[in-house]
Order: sequence, then structure tokens, then C-alpha cells
Amino acid sequence: MNINVLTLFPKMLNSSFQEGVVGQAFLRGLLNIQALNPRDFAEDKHKSVDDKPFGGGDGMVMSLDPLTKAFSSIPEGQRGPVIYLTPQGQLWTDAKAKSYAKNSDSITLVCGRYGGIDQRFINHFVTEEISIGNYVLSGGELAAMVLIDSLARYIPGVLGNLNSVEQESFSQGYLEAPLFTRPNGHTLGTVPEFLTSGHHLRIEQMRKAVGVIRTLCLRPDLLRLRFDELENYRALVLRLSNQDLEVLGLQREQILKLKSFLP
Ligand code: ADE
Repeated sequence: MNINVLTLFPKMLNSSFQEGVVGQAFLRGLLNIQALNPRDFAEDKHKSVDDKPFGGGDGMVMSLDPLTKAFSSIPEGQRGPVIYLTPQGQLWTDAKAKSYAKNSDSITLVCGRYGGIDQRFINHFVTEEISIGNYVLSGGELAAMVLIDSLARYIPGVLGNLNSVEQESFSQGYLEAPLFTRPNGHTLGTVPEFLTSGHHLRIEQMRKAVGVIRTLCLRPDLLRLRFDELENYRALVLRLSNQDLEVLGLQREQILKLKSFLP
């Protein structure tokens, strides 16, 4: 996948190019990230990229010309959908990440700074406005890095096992069960018995039951569950010992009070 990023601060993106899963994908050629700085396209002697808003008001606005010239330098076939990162946009979701990764060979991310960008750029070139959350960042770069990271995980070959991304919370519709590693016995607690039982079917069933109950406790908004399904998972989890419930971060009282969330 080819990702173009229009930004006044290209160095901010370096950590996502260089580290972790995205860095590996970049090195292996699965992901090509190209930063374009509108300042390099500014033609006045001060290389200005912003101006006062017409009609007055606080702050500055990113000017149309340097931004448009930077954008136009990307060959038409390599632009793909053009996403403007802004708190006014639709909320970014895992489903959107999956869809862009699946359907687009290229995408272009536009990072705003100052008070924002000239609306005419949005009208002419932007295909979707995206927000990563209900808070205001000082620019779109961190949001672009969040998008790149979550998209990269869905590019075939980026994660060793594509199943691992499908098995994660947002793809499967419920949170994962807590994870544990060696040692088993520890002063901070003992690993739940079913995880060390060696029975793969039971482990999978219990992990799902714990995941579903955990979702109802922590993020009920994510889950749609019929009453009979809830009862099955609840019964499985209530069979666990108090010690297992505790180390899993669950409370018997709370589980007894849970209500199903219907579609
Ligand atoms: N730019 C500033 N705040 C933002 C947000 N919450 N999401 C995306 N881009 C932004």
C-alpha cells in the first residue's frame, strides 16, 4: 500500500516509519509512506504556508496554493482516497481500517495545522474527513500515525498471521480474554486453571466466555448478545473459582447482575 501524507512536520512521522510492525512493513516494501511538505511548494521568499482567515477570527489557516501544489505533485493514479484528519470528521474505526486496507492500493492523508485548512481544498479533493476521537490535537500528524498503524495491520503479510488481527477485539465483536505467561505461580497471582489444562477446545470456549463477559462489564457498547447466549457464557464463567475470577479481573456479584444487549 502506498500512503502519501501531506504535512508541515514530516519528521513527526519518522517513528512510525522506523519502529515496530509498521517499520518492518516499510522495510519489506509492503508499505510505502511518502511525506510531502506544502512548505517545499510555497513560492514566496518566506515560504509561507498559512494566512489570516477572511472575515477575521483567531488563528491562521493553511493556504490553498502550497497545499494544492503538494497534492498535485502526487501522480493521479497514486492518490487514492483523500482523508483529511480533523476533529470534525467521522470517527475512525477498525472496520474503516480494514476496508481501506482491502480496497485501496493508495491513500492520501492530509494533516491540518493552525486553525485548519482552506475549505476549498476539502471541497475539491477530500473524499472523507476522519477524527480519531473526541478531543482536539494540535495537528493531524498523530492522527495520521494512528491511521497508518491500524491500516498496516490489515495489509496481507504485515502481521505474520492474519488470523491474529481477525481474533482481536474489534474484529470479532468482543474483547479478548486477559493474557498470562510464565511463571504460573507468582506472588501476584496464579494463572487460571483452564489455561493450563491442555484442553484446546475448553481453553477456546472459556476464553470466549471470559471475553464476552468482560466486554459486558467493560465495554457493553461493543457487544450485541441475545439473552440465551449471555446465560450460556455467564454459566461457564460462574463455574470458575473465586481465585480464577479475581486474576481475570472479574467479580461474581457484577456477573450476576449483567443484562444482555440485544441487536
Ligand atoms: N486534528 C486535530 N484533532 C484531531 C482529531 N481528534 N482527529 C483527527 N485529526 C485531528
